[in-house]
Amino acid sequence: MNEKIIHINTSKEYDVVIGRNLLGNAGEMIRKAADPRIVAIVSDDNVFALYEPVLKESLTRQGISVEQFVFPHGECSKCISVYEELLEFLCERRLTRSDMVAALGGGVTGDLAGFAAATYQRGINYVQIPTTLLAAVDSSVGGKTAVNLRGGKNQAGCFYQPSLVICDVDTLSTLPEREYKNGCAEVIKYGMIKDEAFLMNLKERDAHEWIDDVIARCVEMKREVVSADEFDTGERMLLNFGHTLGHGVEKCSDFSVSHGFAVAQGMAVITKNAQIKGICAEGTYELLTGILEKYGLPAVIKYDPEDIAKAACVDKKSQGGQISLIIPEAPGKCVIRKIPAAEIIQWAS
Ligand code: NAD
Ligand code: GLY
Repeated sequence: MNEKIIHINTSKEYDVVIGRNLLGNAGEMIRKAADPRIVAIVSDDNVFALYEPVLKESLTRQGISVEQFVFPHGECSKCISVYEELLEFLCERRLTRSDMVAALGGGVTGDLAGFAAATYQRGINYVQIPTTLLAAVDSSVGGKTAVNLRGGKNQAGCFYQPSLVICDVDTLSTLPEREYKNGCAEVIKYGMIKDEAFLMNLKERDAHEWIDDVIARCVEMKREVVSADEFDTGERMLLNFGHTLGHGVEKCSDFSVSHGFAVAQGMAVITKNAQIKGICAEGTYELLTGILEKYGLPAVIKYDPEDIAKAACVDKKSQGGQISLIIPEAPGKCVIRKIPAAEIIQWAS
């Protein structure tokens, strides 16, 4: 097996295993990492149909009992009611702290199952098995878990690291084109915040041709950031590049614009304004928008800047009216600047 293992050195240490044909051996890896008696596989209906049978078989081969919790795909399921159902399910099936949850799917599954694992019996082990590019490069690593509230995205959650991440790149072969593009936005984000050479490689070569290495490099960058700042009080905020305005776009579109597409627009507009203000090196905006275009991602925000600014600020008001904005200085280099929430409109058009 030609796989890459990246060790994450947070308060709880764990491996991210990236490779091909891993799902069929997931049972063995899970047994070695946590030795559970029961594994509750949590998955949305799309992913369950595609990949649960292989995972289940590999677990039962190791003598591990399997329970299955399936929920309807989509962001709407990342909510309190599905979270509650999942907790009740774990309780009914008598899982204990020596058992485990397996999050098989994209970021919705990972965030939901991770939060349930974090809170069920004050925390049981869980394994992340990402099946979207976005989850592979971002959400499966670093331990952010959450569900949405009526008042906003990710408003109930906690930091809770998994015991293991198994990224079987073969699962991405069934990913719809749109979901692949969504993940590409986060991949480009890594290049912009941390690695110019990687960004230039994304420009020169189609990420699809070297996707295993692309995922591994992104996970390495995420490792650097979360090891330095597990609880998101400093450097980790760099990962939010494009997300403040992107969040505004998601809200203004009533979440019909998906996360990656919104982040792409947010990155482009922040970079344009940083360049106009003389903070960012000339040509960065043109480079970024060229790469976004290559990967089929939008670079223009179509909503009123005032509405975007209002929507972007809503969740941040509690931080004393200040927003930590991630601003590019050059390709591969971003900085965190605290600005008054009232000034965000200057960055939104
Ligand atoms: P998702 O989990 O909803 O998956 C997108 C769609 O792809 C779903 O319809 C799903 O059924 C389908 N799908 C998944 N894998 C598939 C496969 N291999 N083949 C075919 N279809 C497949 O969405 P996502 O984009 O993966 O994640 C978005 C979520 O992640 C958001 O809720 C966001 O807030 C969260 N997120 C969390 C973090 C974090 O650090 N925890 C980081 C970024 C994003
Ligand atoms: N996806 C942002 C973070 O993990 O902090």
